[in-house]
Amino acid sequence: MFLRAAALLSSLAATAAQTPSPTASGWSTTLAGTPTSFRSVFTIPASADEGADLLPNINDPAAVDAQAVCPGYKASQVQSDERGVSAVLTLAGAPCSVYGNDVEVLNLRVEYQSKDRLAVTIEPAFLDASNSSQYVLPEELIPRPGAEDGYGDLDLKFDWADEPSFWFSVTRGSTGDVIFTTKGTHLIFEDQFIEFVNTLPEDYNLYGLGERIHGLRLNNNFTATIYAADVGDPIDRNLYGSHPFYLETRYVNKSSSSSDGGSPFQSYSHGVYLRNIHGMEVVLKPTNLTWRSLGGSIDMFFFDGPTQAEVTKQYQTSAIGLPAMQSYWAFGYHQCRWGYHNWTELRGIVESMKAFDIPLETIWLDIDYMDQYRDFTLDPVTFSPSAVADFFGWLHGNNQHFVPIVDSAIYIPNPTNASDAYDTYMRGNESGVFMTNPDGSQYIGAVWPGYTVFPDWMSTNGVSWWVKEMVEWHKEVPFSGFWLDMSEVSSFCVGSCGTGNVTMNPVHPPFALPGEVGNIIFDFPEGFGVTNATEAASASAGASSQNPPQPPATTTSTTSYLRSVPTPGQRNVNYPPYVLDNVQGDLAVHAVSPNATHENGMQEYDAHNIFGHQIINATYQGLLSVFPGKRPFIIGRSTFAGSGKWAGHWGGDNASKFMYMRFSIPQALSFSLFGIPMFGVDTCGFNGNSDAELCSRWMQLSAFFPFYRNHNTLSANPQEPFRWESVASASRTAMHIRYSLLPYMYTLFHSAHTTGSTVMRALSWEFPNEPQLAGVDTQFMLGPSILVTPVLEPQVSTVMGVFPGIIDGESWYDWYTGERVEAAAGVNTSIPAPLGHIPVFIRGGSVLPLQEPGYTTTDSRKNPWGLIVALSSSGDAYGSLYVDDGESLEPEDTLEIVFTAMKGQLHVELQGGYKDTNALGNVTIMGVTGNVGAVTLNDLSVESSKVDYSQDTGVLTLSGLNDLTSGGAWQGAWTLTWAA
Ligand code: GLC
Repeated sequence: MFLRAAALLSSLAATAAQTPSPTASGWSTTLAGTPTSFRSVFTIPASADEGADLLPNINDPAAVDAQAVCPGYKASQVQSDERGVSAVLTLAGAPCSVYGNDVEVLNLRVEYQSKDRLAVTIEPAFLDASNSSQYVLPEELIPRPGAEDGYGDLDLKFDWADEPSFWFSVTRGSTGDVIFTTKGTHLIFEDQFIEFVNTLPEDYNLYGLGERIHGLRLNNNFTATIYAADVGDPIDRNLYGSHPFYLETRYVNKSSSSSDGGSPFQSYSHGVYLRNIHGMEVVLKPTNLTWRSLGGSIDMFFFDGPTQAEVTKQYQTSAIGLPAMQSYWAFGYHQCRWGYHNWTELRGIVESMKAFDIPLETIWLDIDYMDQYRDFTLDPVTFSPSAVADFFGWLHGNNQHFVPIVDSAIYIPNPTNASDAYDTYMRGNESGVFMTNPDGSQYIGAVWPGYTVFPDWMSTNGVSWWVKEMVEWHKEVPFSGFWLDMSEVSSFCVGSCGTGNVTMNPVHPPFALPGEVGNIIFDFPEGFGVTNATEAASASAGASSQNPPQPPATTTSTTSYLRSVPTPGQRNVNYPPYVLDNVQGDLAVHAVSPNATHENGMQEYDAHNIFGHQIINATYQGLLSVFPGKRPFIIGRSTFAGSGKWAGHWGGDNASKFMYMRFSIPQALSFSLFGIPMFGVDTCGFNGNSDAELCSRWMQLSAFFPFYRNHNTLSANPQEPFRWESVASASRTAMHIRYSLLPYMYTLFHSAHTTGSTVMRALSWEFPNEPQLAGVDTQFMLGPSILVTPVLEPQVSTVMGVFPGIIDGESWYDWYTGERVEAAAGVNTSIPAPLGHIPVFIRGGSVLPLQEPGYTTTDSRKNPWGLIVALSSSGDAYGSLYVDDGESLEPEDTLEIVFTAMKGQLHVELQGGYKDTNALGNVTIMGVTGNVGAVTLNDLSVESSKVDYSQDTGVLTLSGLNDLTSGGAWQGAWTLTWAA
C-alpha cells in the first residue's frame, strides 16, 4: 500500500513539473498553469493601493473626546404604555459637530417586543429622503425583528432619565441586575458619527463583536472594529465579516443554596444586537463599552436569555434567521489548494486520497481553473472544457463532489482587443448591474483578472443576472456548490483606478503572488527548526539568498495625517471625520471605495459591510435555480448577521502556525454565536509551509469542526494529508471518528436549523455554573456530548484540559477505551496525547447515534447503524437522531428517533415516515456497573458470543446485532435490556 502510494506521489510530482510555473522572468511568461500569451506585462503600481495617511482616533492624542464636548439630548413628549415608551429627543445644547453634523431632533421608540426581547430605537425624527446624509437601514436589506403577541412576561425593564442628559438602562427584572446602562454619559448622534457608552461590571465576560482573530472572551482593553476587510487574518483586527452582536455572561454566587455540594455559582447571560451596517467600533474598557458608528441609527435588541443557549436561539429566531440545513455530503472531507494546475493533477489528488484510504468527499478548485481569472470560465488549456465530461463522469461516479471558487469582481474586457470579449461582463453591462462612480461612469477597481467592475446587488437586474450566469455555467461545469471569495468587497487599488486604463487589461495585481519573485515561501510552523533541523537550516539559507534583507525603513516623525472636519449639510464619505481603527487604514484601501454608488443612489459607504451577505443571497438563489428543491452549499468569506441562513464560512487566510490552529477554536465558537455553525478553517494552514507535526494535529482537530477542509496558498509546499505517512495515519484515525459520528453531527445541524441551538459549543455554555470556564477556548464541545481537548502546541505528548461539570456530578468516558475518566472537579489535568492521538471524551448521560464509516458519505449512509450509550452516574442516558434523504430543502419524509436509557434498558421511540433499511450493528454501553444479565432486543435474545463485558472497564459491547434488525434498525420502537 505504501509503495503504491509512493509511486503515485512521484507521478504527481511529475505532473506538476510539466506544468508551467512562475519564473524569475516574471508575470509575463507564466502564472502557474494559466496560458499567458494574452497577458500584458503591465503591473498595477503598488502605490495604487495606498491610501491617505490616517491616524485612528483611538490612537490620536489630539482627538476630541465627544463625551467632553457634546451636549447630549433631552427627552420630551414622553408617552408610555404597556408596550413601551416613545419620546422625542432634542439636542440639549449647541451642536458640537464633533465628527459630523448633529441631528437636532431624534425619535426614541422602546418596544417590549416579545417575552424575551426588548428593542430600543433612536433615529432622526425628520428623515428626509433628499438628505442622503441621514440613513436608516431599510428592512428589505436587513430584516428587523417586529413586536409579537405575548410580550407580557418579558423580564427586561427599560428606564430612562434626563440627567445630565438623556440616558437609558435595561434591567433584568427578576434579579434587579442592570444589564445595560448609558447613565452618566451623553448620546452623540451625527450624520457620520454616533456614540454612546454603556457601563459594565468589572471583569465582564463578553463574547462576539466579530469577525476577528482573538480569544473567545474579549479582553477589556481592546477595540473591536467592525468593517469588512480583505486581509490575511491579523490578530485582533477587523476581518472579513461584520457581526455587531455580543453575548454577556454574569456569574453570581448562590452559596447560600449550595448545600447540595454542587457549584456555588449560577450564571445569567443576555445578548445585545446593534442592527447597523456601517463601519463601527466598540471600545472595550475595564468597566464600559463605547460604541461608535459612522452612520445609520441606533436599533438595538436586548435578548434576555437567561442562558447562552436561549440568547443564541432568541437572536437567531427573531432577528437574523436560523442557519441553513446542510446536505449530508457537506460534512464529508473537503480537499482544496491554490495551485492545482490541471484536470490531470486534480484527478491525481483524488486518486491519491483513495490510494491512501483517506476519505475524500469533495475536491475544490481555486482561481487556477479559470480562464485568466474570470468568473464562469474554464482555462481552455489546463482545464479544458473537452475534459469536463470525462472528469465529472468519473468523479460523480465515485459519489464525490466538486466546488469551485467564484470571485466577487467581474473582469472588464479590453475594448481594443476583440478577442478579449467576456460575455459575463457584456451581459451584466447591458443589464446595468455594476456599481458606478458618483458621476455615473462605471466604477473600475482591480482584482485577480486585472481591472474589474463590481456587481450591485441592489440594482434591478443584479441578482437575476448572477442567477442566470450560474445556471448557464452549470451546464458546462457541473459544480455542487459555490465558494465565494473576495466579497468584502475587495479591490486591489484605491478608487476607480481602472478608469481610463482598461485598454491595458489584463493587468497584474499591484503585489507579487506567492511564488513570484521576491515572494518565495520559506515560512514554517513554530518548532520546525527543532523537529526538522536540517530542512530548516536549508530553508533559512534559501530565504536569505533569495529574499535579500531590505534596508531598514526610514522612519519619519513628520507624517502629517489627513484629518477631515465636518462640512455643514454634507458628509465626507471617503474621509469621514472620525477615523476608525481599520486594519487597512483608509477605508478605500483594498476595498471598493465608499463613494462607489448603487443604482438606488445608495453609496458604498452605507452598504460596505453587506456586500458579502448580498452575494451569498444571490448565490443561494442561483443554486436553488440550478438544483431546484435541493439545499444550496455555499461557503462565503464576508458575512453579516444572518448570512448563516444561506451559507457557511471559512476562517480566511490563516497561516501554517500552531498559533492559528489555536485561534480556529474561538473563531468557530464566535460563529456559533453569530448563527453560522457551518464553519471551518484552512486546515494545516494557508500562508506559509505546513509540516507533518502541525498538519497531523490540525487534521485531527478540524475533524470535529462542521466544515472540514484543507486549503493552502499558491506555491507553498503541498499539504494534502497523504503527503506524510504520519499525517495520513492521524487523518484516518480522526476521520474514522468523524464519519462514525456523522449521524450525530447531522442531528445537531438539524436542531440548529430548526431551533437555533449550536453545534460547536464553548465549555462555559454547556456548564454555565463554573466561572473558571468563562474564558476556556482551547477545548470545546461538539454538541452537548463530545468534549475535544486538542494539542495546540508543538513538541508535546500531553495536553492540559479540564473535565467540566464534575462538581455537579458529571462523568466522562474516553472515546477510545470507553473507560470512565478519573478526574477531579475543576482540576486542569494532564492528558496523554502523543502525535496521532486527539483526546476525545463522551459525556455521561448521552446516547450517540453512529454509522459505520464508508469512504464517502454516500457509502456511509448505506452502512449499519451503531450506538454509544454513555451512562450518567445515576445510570441513565438520552439522545436523539434525525434522518432524512440528506439533500431536500423540504424533505417529504423524515425520521426522528429518541433514545432513553435507564435501569439497564435502552428504549427507542420513533416518529416520521422516512424509510431507512440499514440494520443496527453494534451497541456500546459505557459506565455499566455490577453484573450484566441476559441481553435481549425486544424479546429476541442476543447470543452470548456477541456480548462482551468487562466489569473492570464497565464497557459492555454488543456486536453483530444485524441479524436481529435485518429489516432496518428504525422500523419500530424497541427495547434493549442488559440489566441483571
Ligand atoms: C484569497 C482567499 C484564498 C484563495 C486566494 C486565491 O486569498 O482567501 O482562500 O486561495 O484568494 O483565490
